[in-house]
Formats: sequence, structure tokens, C-alpha cells
Amino acid sequence: MKQKIRAGIIGITGYTGEELLKILVRHPHASVTALQGRSAAEVRSLKDIYAHFADLKLSCEGLDIARLVSSCDVVFLALPHTVSFEIAPALVSAGVKVIDLSADFRISDKKTYEQWYAKFHTAHDLLSLAVYGLPELYRKKLVAATLVANPGCYPTSVILGCLPVLSAGGIVDAASIIVDAKSGISGAGRKTAAAYFETEHPNFRPYNIAGGHRHLPEIEQELTALAGSSVPLKITFTPHIMPIERGMISTIYMNLKGAHSTADILALYKKKYAAEPFVRVLDEGQLPAVKNVANTNYCEIGLKVDERAGRLVVISAIDNLLKGASGQAVQNMNIMFGFDEKEGLD
Ligand SMILES: NC(=O)c1ccc[n+]([C@@H]2O[C@H](COP(=O)([O-])OP(=O)(O)OC[C@H]3O[C@@H](n4cnc5c(N)ncnc54)[C@H](OP(=O)(O)O)[C@@H]3O)[C@@H](O)[C@H]2O)c1
Repeated sequence: MKQKIRAGIIGITGYTGEELLKILVRHPHASVTALQGRSAAEVRSLKDIYAHFADLKLSCEGLDIARLVSSCDVVFLALPHTVSFEIAPALVSAGVKVIDLSADFRISDKKTYEQWYAKFHTAHDLLSLAVYGLPELYRKKLVAATLVANPGCYPTSVILGCLPVLSAGGIVDAASIIVDAKSGISGAGRKTAAAYFETEHPNFRPYNIAGGHRHLPEIEQELTALAGSSVPLKITFTPHIMPIERGMISTIYMNLKGAHSTADILALYKKKYAAEPFVRVLDEGQLPAVKNVANTNYCEIGLKVDERAGRLVVISAIDNLLKGASGQAVQNMNIMFGFDEKEGLD
């Protein structure tokens, strides 16, 4: 049995920090050795933040990099964008592995990041070191990664939904991709979710349409690379919030090049994902549902050729907090430390 690794979480009061803790305390090869955060500095004991963790004798503290360096092999940054890039450099340079759940290291081009996030990237020298943490695409690079840019939730569902057909080439027109996506309200973070439940639940509505969502540059970066396109793809992306706490469904429309049957394209998806521990491709006639993936690290994919319109319709469902965030982060940790990829996530 391998020695336990020591894991820390910064941002313990947030949704993804809580999910990370839930997974890591059950993980057979990890011990949680540090819980830190901004408002966590005001409390002493974990049970003062989460009554349901009362049995865990863990304490919380404010941000203390020196303590993280001395007590952790890996640190998860469950922090907002533009906060992570202030903290990651000190950890990386001290030899601590970092898995960042924010967008700060996902976009390889500094200018693109700064354009979308409206802030100077103070750790842009680390962008080339960061590995985009989608195991289905970058597993080999993740093995040796010291800084992982854990993907966004919408990007995870969209990229996994497009990967087989774009990497095969010649089946769809990559320039035609339209995504209509719906997220449970936890995707917006704890404070926004609380405001939603207080003021508008059970509303269902679109937001940030027509090029207005910050996940777009990340989706376009990865889909352009997958399609091998010499010009950057421009995706039409329409996100919605739906009146449930967790879960996400992306419906992806792609114009077909020539005639293709549902059975042939499904066979391609099944082959591509046959060895993937967390991607489930459904049989013809079956469609994904949030209930099938909520509280799991699975991505469920179903598809159908719309012969009348000449389009492929792919549906990709995940739990935004697990495969879309903390579950995938632990999957990446497992790869980085040589554990079975499913450890702690089954
Ligand atoms: N929610 C999702 O489904 C999801 C999916 C994929 C990726 N992500 C990304 O994961 C990260 C965390 O998301 P979340 O949903 O867990 O957010 P959240 O619920 O809003 O939690 C954010 C955490 O960051 C802390 N924080 C906020 N501002 C800070 C600052 N200026 N300095 C230090 N700490 C600060 C908060 O602590 P306080 O208690 O002090 O406010 C809290 O612990 C974000 O970058 C998000 O985009 C989220």
C-alpha cells in the first residue's frame, strides 16, 4: 500500500471546497492536512462551518502559505479567478503540486485571458507549465504535472461531447457548433446560489448569451485544437440556470458533412471512450439525465443524427460540482500521484 499523500484545500467555505473535502476524507491514499480560506480565518473548527463534518477533528485557518508548504504534497485552490494566480506561484516554486479549480491557468494565451477576465495576469510565466486537467485529453501530461488547470464545468461537458467526432475529422463542420447548456445553480458559487434561492427560485432562464460567457475562450481553445483548425473556432454558446442545486446538461448541435447514421457515430463514441473510467456513452434511443450523474464523477453522453436537418445532436450530462469541478480535480490528483484514477470517486 502506498504512503498517504497530504492534501490541503484553500477556499474551504465554498461549494467546490466542501465537495473536495467530502471526497478526500474518504480517499484511501490521502490525508487532509490543511483547510484554509479567507473567512475560515475567523473560525477555529470545521464544525463551525459545516455541522455535517462535526466528526472530523479538523481545524480551519486563514491563508498561510508557509504552513501549506510544510504540511501538504498537493494543494487544491477552490478560489475565484484572479485570486488563484496570486497564490499558486509560491506553492509551485516550493515544490507543492497545485490543482487550481479557477480559470486562472486554463487559457494558454495571456492576452486572451486578460481580455476575458479584465485583469493583468501576474503569474503568466506559469501558463506554459500548467496542464489542462481533462484526463480524457491530457492524461499523459497530467502524470508529470506540477500545476493543473482544472477545467470549467461547461467546458468539461462540451469538450467531452465533441471530442470523438472532432478528433476523427471529416464528419462534422467544426465551424458550425452551437451549444445550448443548462446548469444547476451551484455552478454560480455559494453566495450567488444563496441569493438565487432567496429571490427567484424556481426560475429557469438564460444568461450571458451571444459571446458573453467566460467559459467560451476555454471551450474554443480546446475545440480548435481538437478539430485541428487553422483558424480559431467561434462557438455560439447559450448558458441557462435551472432550478436545481447541482447537475448540468449541454446540448451540442453540429452540421454533418455528408450522410452518417446514429449507429455509426455512436460506435465511434463508444470506441473512443471504451477505456475511460468516467465517461458513459448511452445506447441508441437512450438520453442522458441529470439524475443519472448527480453526485457522481460520470459524464453521460447520448446522441442522435437529425437526418432531416443534416445535424448531429449530442447531449452531455455531468454533475457540475464533481466531473465539472472537485471530482475531476481528485481524478487529476490520482493521475499525478500514480493512484488508480477511480480512487475515492467510485
Ligand atoms: N461551482 C461550480 O460548479 C464550479 C465548477 C467548476 C469550477 N468552479 C470554479 O471553482 C472555483 C470555486 O468555485 P465555488 O463554486 O466553490 O465558489 P464559491 O462557493 O463562491 O467559493 C469561493 C471560495 O473562495 C473564497 N474567496 C472568495 N473571494 C476570495 C478572495 N478574494 N480571497 C480569498 N478567498 C476568497 C470564498 O471564501 P469566503 O468564505 O471568504 O468568501 C470561498 O471559500 C471558482 O473559480 C469557480 O469558477 C466552480
